[in-house]
Amino acid sequence: MSFTGKVCIVAGASRGIGRVAAETLARAGAHVVVSSRDAAACEAVAAGIRQTGGQATAVAADVTRASDMQTLVDRVVQRHGRLDLAFHNAGNLFGMSPLHETAVKRFEDTIAVNLHGPFYGLHAYLPAMIKGGGGAIVVTTAGSGLRPRASLADTSASKWGANGLCQAAALEVAKHNVRINVVAPGFIATESWMALLGANAKPLAARVPLGRLGEASDVADVVMWLLGDGARYVTGAVIPVDGGLVLV
Ligand SMILES: NC(=O)c1ccc[n+]([C@@H]2O[C@H](COP(=O)([O-])OP(=O)(O)OC[C@H]3O[C@@H](n4cnc5c(N)ncnc54)[C@H](OP(=O)(O)O)[C@@H]3O)[C@@H](O)[C@H]2O)c1
Repeated sequence: MSFTGKVCIVAGASRGIGRVAAETLARAGAHVVVSSRDAAACEAVAAGIRQTGGQATAVAADVTRASDMQTLVDRVVQRHGRLDLAFHNAGNLFGMSPLHETAVKRFEDTIAVNLHGPFYGLHAYLPAMIKGGGGAIVVTTAGSGLRPRASLADTSASKWGANGLCQAAALEVAKHNVRINVVAPGFIATESWMALLGANAKPLAARVPLGRLGEASDVADVVMWLLGDGARYVTGAVIPVDGGLVLV
């Protein structure tokens, strides 16, 4: 799969799934704009890509701020003349607890990053892609946005909302040759998730029908397919990348 000549923003690329996706896109020839709140971490990822012969720049942006997302896209369009692709992956799990024990502030923070973030992202990416004659976007939600799980009400609400947001927007922009799809990871063994899961990681892996936790590359490979020409007739899909977990 070749992405040569394509300009792609990866929002939430400083580590984990986003970082692996950014590196994979760059290996396939894309110019990757590595973005998160942490300018230094993004520059380190971009520098690593450049050192291995890829093309990448770093631009810091907080997805919970509409103005940051607009500035990010404006800078990309100024520099490259267009925006072809976006992987909007930024998200956060601030904790797990029953709803009645969840702090209001945590609920607000969760909605800000996992639901306002995709809205602000799409709001900025879409006009640039429509103006350029087309594009493809993938947004990361979660298995808990497809099937409710106890102690994840705030996350479920935010990711469920993001699924609906993306599907409605996919309907709106299909006529402009822009595709929007969603990946919904299950348990992926990124550093931040392993820290959160701790000793629960092993029993959780045993619950996964395919018998293991996912790797960031398991998600990145699906993202690559959705962003690429192989998925040219796919839009508005929410694809679980979870080893079958959503079924059990
Ligand atoms: N790992 C899993 O098992 C799992 C399961 C279900 C869903 N997901 C979803 O998959 C995505 C990636 O997960 P991951 O495990 O790779 O997480 P991670 O390693 O913690 O990475 C999260 C990324 O999002 C960025 N981010 C967080 N808040 C941001 C903000 N306000 N503005 C811009 N960037 C922000 C972080 O960058 P900075 O901190 O540098 O800003 C980082 O690059 C998330 O949307 C997550 O909800 C993951």
